Amino acid sequence: MRILKLFLLSMIAFGVESFAQNNLEIYANAGAHRISKDIYGHFAEHLGRCIYDGIWVGPDSDIPNVNGYRKDVLEALQALEIPVLRWPGGCFADTYHWKDGIGPVKDRPKIKNVFWGGVIEDNSFGTHEFLNLCELLGSDAYISANVGSGTVEEMIDWIEYMTSDEDVAMADLRRRNGREKPWDVKFIGIGNESWGCGGEMTPEHYADLMKTYSSYARLYGGRRLVRVGSGANSGDYNWTRVLMEKGARQVDALGAHYYTIAGEGWGNKSSATDFGEDLYFRGIQQGLRMDGLIAQHSAVMDQYDPGKRVGLFIDEWGIWTDVEPGTNPGFLYQQNSMRDALIAATTLNIFNKHCERVRMANIAQTVNVLQAMVLTQDDRMLLTPTYHVFNMFKDHKGALMLPFHLSTEDYEFNGDKIPAVGVSASLAGDGSLTLTLTNVNPEKKVDLEISFMGRSVDGVEDAVVLTAPAVNSINTFDKTDTVSPKKFSEFKKSSDHAITVALPSKSVVKLKVR
Ligand code: AHR
Repeated sequence: MRILKLFLLSMIAFGVESFAQNNLEIYANAGAHRISKDIYGHFAEHLGRCIYDGIWVGPDSDIPNVNGYRKDVLEALQALEIPVLRWPGGCFADTYHWKDGIGPVKDRPKIKNVFWGGVIEDNSFGTHEFLNLCELLGSDAYISANVGSGTVEEMIDWIEYMTSDEDVAMADLRRRNGREKPWDVKFIGIGNESWGCGGEMTPEHYADLMKTYSSYARLYGGRRLVRVGSGANSGDYNWTRVLMEKGARQVDALGAHYYTIAGEGWGNKSSATDFGEDLYFRGIQQGLRMDGLIAQHSAVMDQYDPGKRVGLFIDEWGIWTDVEPGTNPGFLYQQNSMRDALIAATTLNIFNKHCERVRMANIAQTVNVLQAMVLTQDDRMLLTPTYHVFNMFKDHKGALMLPFHLSTEDYEFNGDKIPAVGVSASLAGDGSLTLTLTNVNPEKKVDLEISFMGRSVDGVEDAVVLTAPAVNSINTFDKTDTVSPKKFSEFKKSSDHAITVALPSKSVVKLKVR
């Protein structure tokens, strides 16, 4: 008893914070790498109700629209400030022949969307509709070229059509189709998942094709296209190794795709909403795998490209669950819960940490498909918990990533454990420091002592929290704000250089420190 008393007295004497279990030290003057804004990129495929119904309803629709784009969705996406949008797929890209999607809509051929539900694609949303959307959103365009069933010539023509300002055939065709000036296309993907739906290729075969396509992927206007090799499936490091060894000089980035599955695997992905703590824990744990996957792909790339010229683009990621009951299994329509918000936030923190190599990421997919930002039903729309996370993380875009040391308690479940807290910190040009924090423990709040090494803290502004009654809470068309950001006040300045924060259970917190 006497010893305990002495211990408690010494804690008071030294300040209880120094004994806190959860400490975060941020090295405010040690930032060396910028967080590319493109880490906050998106992906929109001709799949289910992403493009048709979700983004595009056509100018004659009863649903309020701006030249055919749904007004409510357009405005929500504009508010998100999407830096880059990938299109037209996905698996769809390697079946897409761009000339089907230009010219008078009534003359455009219909095709069957063989990968996604076997529905008839009328091509009413094509190159003009996509690139004009990018202009409305202020997003860079990331075009996925067809390698699986297309040709080099077809890709060259497409690039010329989109980007040439000269007196050449494809630019003339574009002008005849109503667009005088070329668009400002920045990124070109050389196929998609060429190891799978994009042609079932070996890495050696694909590497040769990648080099051929890349050498013709030139820009006919002002600047050079950023050429992206179709990257590995999850932990297929051999794919990355072969591409780097055979073709690193010919590309500017390699992709990689990783989807989080909370259930037992592709055959049993589990429900988006009906899950207990076991599937919650596993979902978060599987999401955190992204850290190791990036580290290992980066290590392979470092062997061939120590100067990190070639970027790693995680151009498809997110949680993939069973479809909502009663919906077309080929449409991949899933609800979006507080768990998904936590997966998005922990993953974005991971991308920020690896920003020296990871220079783009595109969550799948923007509207009505997989881990979407927005869901629609007839003329109604809701913002998902994941949408709110992207909004809260905005200030990291283009900011200097700050290194940190985090010592955190674990969240334990059934004899397994993962870190309860995740973080990223960045410094903006105006001197403000943005922190994004996650507490994945579904029941327990976490008290965190945050010390800023090399800078003082005047105050905290713009403090926001996203949490919910339960980890499977969702927004519905009748109640759209169950999971929505609120003002956060559970923090206090503990010294000139430190603050303490009480992170609620299952929460994402954003703090802007001055
Ligand atoms: O995003 C859905 C699909 O997942 C994409 O079309 C494909 O690239 C991946 O397998």
